[in-house]
Amino acid sequence: MSRPREPLVLAWATDLHLDMARSRHVRHFMASVRDSGADAVLVGGDTATAVDVAERLCELADATGLATYFVLGNHDFYRGSVASVRARASALGRPGVQWLPASGPRELAPGVVLVGHDGWGDARIGNFAGSDVVLTDYLLIEELSRCFRPEAFQGSFGERSALQDALLQLGADAATTLAPHLAAAAAPGRHVIVLTHVPPFREACWHEGRISDDHWLPGFTCGAMGELLAATARGHPDCRFTVLCGHTHGSGAACIAPNLIVHTQGATYGNPRWLRLEVTLDEVRIAG
Ligand SMILES: [Fe+2]
Ligand SMILES: [Fe+2]
Repeated sequence: MSRPREPLVLAWATDLHLDMARSRHVRHFMASVRDSGADAVLVGGDTATAVDVAERLCELADATGLATYFVLGNHDFYRGSVASVRARASALGRPGVQWLPASGPRELAPGVVLVGHDGWGDARIGNFAGSDVVLTDYLLIEELSRCFRPEAFQGSFGERSALQDALLQLGADAATTLAPHLAAAAAPGRHVIVLTHVPPFREACWHEGRISDDHWLPGFTCGAMGELLAATARGHPDCRFTVLCGHTHGSGAACIAPNLIVHTQGATYGNPRWLRLEVTLDEVRIAG
């Protein structure tokens, strides 16, 4: 994409949960993105469910006429499997609708490079063993429901389990897939935008105005991605990194390092919305 003007303007949406919104709200949302003057749309996951996420993303791209870059959230796998939804996302066959883990880095304007991965609440941060939080993920996503027996759950997860192994692996997979894309994107003077669903750091795990506690952090943060991002930012002090995430439905910003900032966008079920981002080599301005 050539730079049409300064700065680059992106419409960033996350946690749209279009399956839970009334059609008139969905139509209003899509029309407002179409009329936004944005150069492209970023969709940060939890768009719908396994049944209709691909159709919903194509509908959005059709309605707006804009290039649409997306990652998937945990809800996008509900009533399906991680493997099958990701296979469909990578084989969409729509040039204007790109799942970032498959498409790899995209230079949206000179020096501004977009990468992304779904991430996963990977049980690395907080206290998974002592947590009493049973996410719907463990019941409605095939790979996880295979490892979790709700009838045997006794108020906390306790000793290392098959479920914890599966969550750790999903986080490791996210970091492993993103690592080469980040390495290719990072360079002196560049601004790398990282789109993901799950906050990669405790400090970015905003919920209702505060940071989530140790019960919720295991499902609300992707520690493996955080380790990768922090190491990459340390190794490239002359490159700027801006992470865009959602998942917690709470909003906030966290400055992790002088060149690494994370924005978490809030959300409300039934009320899909987007934020206008003005992106230069030096910063992302969130214009609301
Ligand atoms: Fe969500
Ligand atoms: Fe989510």
